[in-house]
Amino acid sequence: MASKVYDWLDERLGLGGIYATVLDRKVPKVNWFFTLGSASLFLFTMQAVTGIFLTMYYVPTPDKAYDSIQFIMTGVPFGWLIRGIHHWGASLMVIFVILHMLRTFYFAAYKYPRELTWITGVVLLLSTLGMGFTGYLLPWNQKAYWATTVGTSIPGTVPFIGTYITQILRGGADLSGVTLARFFSVHIWVLPAVIIALIGVHLYMVIRLGIAGVPKKDD
Ligand code: HEM
Repeated sequence: MASKVYDWLDERLGLGGIYATVLDRKVPKVNWFFTLGSASLFLFTMQAVTGIFLTMYYVPTPDKAYDSIQFIMTGVPFGWLIRGIHHWGASLMVIFVILHMLRTFYFAAYKYPRELTWITGVVLLLSTLGMGFTGYLLPWNQKAYWATTVGTSIPGTVPFIGTYITQILRGGADLSGVTLARFFSVHIWVLPAVIIALIGVHLYMVIRLGIAGVPKKDD
């Protein structure tokens, strides 16, 4: 029965072809360091899943944000676990993406023809850091408020346009409900969309070009 369903779908969707292209590829001799990209992908997926669960109870307004997080931690079944995974997963993702970048740099995988894989990777790293920065404000506690006050004032030191950048980030001269709404929107819509699109391009190129492998002495 299952094979009949598979054959029916395969005939229409070409599943066998997709499997052969994406997973059944020749890979050079690699080591554990080559799993760091997949680990980053796994962590991103976990952040997306736990983040979606968090939005079911989190309220991004100054009067409700803090209390909604307290409710997630104490009132929602397994809320503490979902938030804990999202909280620690954020730091882990930053660490793994940086380790993956160091691995590709050390093995010179950024060279021709993989320059675009590297460039999309750089934007992925910046977007991952942006997720951390925008997510940090969401609990709307003292630490979050003041860390974001400092974080958004740093670009204010840029000559001529600094004050303008700070105002765009904050949605005004100071941190307010507008800042919280803005950071929430960027955290759950803008950056995830950018990251998903870039991971698509990044992995398309990994599949198209193949893995660079460990460089040999005469490379
Ligand atoms: C969300 C972040 C990222 C994800 C999910 C991701 C995912 C992956 C995966 C699954 C691979 C193939 C397996 C491997 O080589 O580990 C890969 C390869 C690669 N990645 Fe990333 N990556 C990310 C960020 C980055 C960053 C920050 C850089 C560098 C600035 C980068 C540069 C590369 C390069 C050059 C390759 C090709 C490696 C080769 O051919 O040997 N990636 N990436």
